[in-house]
Amino acid sequence: MPTVPTFTAHNGFALPAIGLGTYALNGDEGAAAVTSALGAGYRLLDSAFNYENEGSVGRGVAASDVPRGEIIVTTKLPGRHHPTAKARASIEESRSRLGLDITDLHLIHWPNPSQDEYVQAWAALVEAQERGVVRQIGVSNFLPEHLERIERETGVRPVVNQIELHPYFPQEEQLAYHREHGILTEAWSPLGRAKALVEEPVVVEVAAAHGITPVQAVLAWHVARETVSIPKASSLEHQVSNLAAAEIVLDDSEVEALTALGRADGRLFDADPRTHEES
Ligand SMILES: NC(=O)c1ccc[n+]([C@@H]2O[C@H](COP(=O)([O-])OP(=O)(O)OC[C@H]3O[C@@H](n4cnc5c(N)ncnc54)[C@H](OP(=O)(O)O)[C@@H]3O)[C@@H](O)[C@H]2O)c1
Repeated sequence: MPTVPTFTAHNGFALPAIGLGTYALNGDEGAAAVTSALGAGYRLLDSAFNYENEGSVGRGVAASDVPRGEIIVTTKLPGRHHPTAKARASIEESRSRLGLDITDLHLIHWPNPSQDEYVQAWAALVEAQERGVVRQIGVSNFLPEHLERIERETGVRPVVNQIELHPYFPQEEQLAYHREHGILTEAWSPLGRAKALVEEPVVVEVAAAHGITPVQAVLAWHVARETVSIPKASSLEHQVSNLAAAEIVLDDSEVEALTALGRADGRLFDADPRTHEES
């Protein structure tokens, strides 16, 4: 099994460099994919209330012989559950669907700023952490202004911000903000969904120079930038190959060459946190 480096947040909480994304891993197949990933050495699992797969993720964990204490199970609270009472109920429902006494990392899925209820959701997560039903709390798709506001209003800083991040959209400024505040960056769609990005000549070249696949070159780029990636992979073959990328070291010029693929409109779809509303 590969040795996977860890990255550490302001409060000492550490995440492995590579975890498993689970969007569209549902039902029995989803549960089996989670169990196989744990067997391959994954210790970080992503999930969300809105993926309607917390049940599969929980079953995948239960079927694995990896000790529960070694696994970090993530879920996310949806936009329609931001108001206090709904957020409290949502946290309980996620625990129930996962079949876990405690979720290891609970995130707010999107800030939905026009709705302006994300501070209530954050306060509910703070309370759940105090009650001991959620181990660590964080956010997803938050801009610096949203991060600053929740800390100002509750006194509690998130440990993680999960954002869209891949070479087409390298988010240098947001990463600098996270580093300055000890907030771990998790990359969603870290492979850019493994389409045009992995056919880019520079990605193919870097891969060839190391005798690795273009997907592994992209994952090694994330590792070099100390951002946690959560590639979704259904097959054991892809899971094993992706986790092995945790041991690949790119040199600075290779990292820069991939970062240079970045462009202002590099998002995969119209998911700007200023305007995107996730119900
Ligand atoms: N917080 C948010 O708002 C947010 C938004 C989007 C996603 N996410 C999270 O981030 C995770 C990852 O993002 P994503 O699923 O959008 O995209 P992704 O991880 O960038 O790409 C997934 C695609 O890459 C393929 N793939 C994986 N490993 C491969 C390999 N070694 N060789 C070739 N193809 C490979 C997968 O196919 P196979 O399944 O066939 O392997 C799948 O089609 C999600 O699953 C979800 O957990 C969060």
